Amino acid sequence: MDAAAVNDLLAFLRFPSVSTDPACAGKVAECAQWLCARLKALGLEAETHPTPGHPAVVARNRHETGRKTVLIYGHYDVQPPDPLELWTHPPFEPHIENGIVTARGATDNKGQILAHVLGVGEAMKRTGELPVNLIFLIEGEEEIGSAHLEPFLLAHRDSLRCDIIAVSDTGMVGRNIPTFTYGLRGIGALEIKVTGPSTDLHSGIYGGAVANPATMLARLLATLHTAEGRVAVEGFYDGVQPVSQAEKDRWGRLPLNDALILQLTGAPQLFGEAGCTTLERVWARPTAEVNGLKGGYQGEGTKTVIPKEASAKLTFRLVPDQKPDEVIDKVKAHLTQHTPPGVVLEITGGHTGAPYLCDPDSPQGMAARRALQRTFGGEPALIREGGSIPIVNSFKTILGVDTLLLGLALPDCRVHAPNENFPLENFFAGIRLNQALLEELAQG
Ligand code: BES
Ligand code: ZN
Repeated sequence: MDAAAVNDLLAFLRFPSVSTDPACAGKVAECAQWLCARLKALGLEAETHPTPGHPAVVARNRHETGRKTVLIYGHYDVQPPDPLELWTHPPFEPHIENGIVTARGATDNKGQILAHVLGVGEAMKRTGELPVNLIFLIEGEEEIGSAHLEPFLLAHRDSLRCDIIAVSDTGMVGRNIPTFTYGLRGIGALEIKVTGPSTDLHSGIYGGAVANPATMLARLLATLHTAEGRVAVEGFYDGVQPVSQAEKDRWGRLPLNDALILQLTGAPQLFGEAGCTTLERVWARPTAEVNGLKGGYQGEGTKTVIPKEASAKLTFRLVPDQKPDEVIDKVKAHLTQHTPPGVVLEITGGHTGAPYLCDPDSPQGMAARRALQRTFGGEPALIREGGSIPIVNSFKTILGVDTLLLGLALPDCRVHAPNENFPLENFFAGIRLNQALLEELAQG
């Protein structure tokens, strides 16, 4: 059984289902087909639904009245594998060593969603049935903001009606430490471009005559933060809810401390908003991040040039009760106001997703925590996460249900980075966790 499960995982990981890369669209579609066939093979009714972007895969068992309906959400798309030269093995040729599988998507989210799928398969094989009415919703656009999933939810509101949603796309605070996540940060994305001269110029002939777009972009980006690490956009913190003392106390007791985070990041020191602990900063405080910078000569050696333009990709992590669209408007106004002289600014809006917070002590939260305890032993840690899963808030607003976040990523799984990996022990734990979860939710 274990070998078959691992083979399934390897097959799933071999698809380069990079949602952001148009060149991968065919492989993304093939991956959806593979998943759909795998779900059908378990005896579920499964379909791939085309969207204006990548397809969503939906599967269900035979629903019976009187039973709880559980929707399990995940994604089969992955982040780009770049920079390729930093991988020890090719990102779409999964490699197993010391019980750890390395491949793009191993943790985020193929390993975790497949554990749910195989957990369902095992339960159905063992008992011929599931204790709940089940819906799988596995999309192909999570890593690019889930733009087409919200319309899909609206269009299929009735058939997706459920009592609770479960998602394994978050992390554990450490190996074998069961972890229940009750909050996610939201996100807003932007791209900015500053343009100067109509062509690249010789920096000797014209240096001093015109503004250099790369310099001016750096100047503009520097206005986003104060020296103390706060975001300097007017009104940015409007609506930000303070972290409760109970949360501060709980997080202060976690094994995920500053020394460990320093080691995990490999940064020379930790840095962020003054007056907050590191865990508060990543889980419950908003940030502004530069994700990419372009401008000027990037090749070997020097080139004496004034680039005609320079650009940056930005994202803002948001917390309750910030409103993504309002924050993005404030950021746009800030950037426009602070554009340095001699260049023209162009802003392109990107995806947004609202933050999410739920009650870990709700009856369903308690059921999830019991399932985690049964699977790993020990009281689950209660945390928030700094990452975003944009559709989770839409589940609440459109379907009216809460989402239980029971992810199995470890802090060193290198999610989104080269050499992403997932321990097989977590993969097998995920298969067991799925079964415990459905049992607990059926009763709770
Ligand atoms: N699995 C992550 C979200 C995540 C990461 C949650 C770490 C908790 C801890 C998800 O696949 C992801 O990366 N989401 C993107 C969303 C964005 C592209 C809209 C993110 O957070 O950057
Ligand atoms: Zn991700």
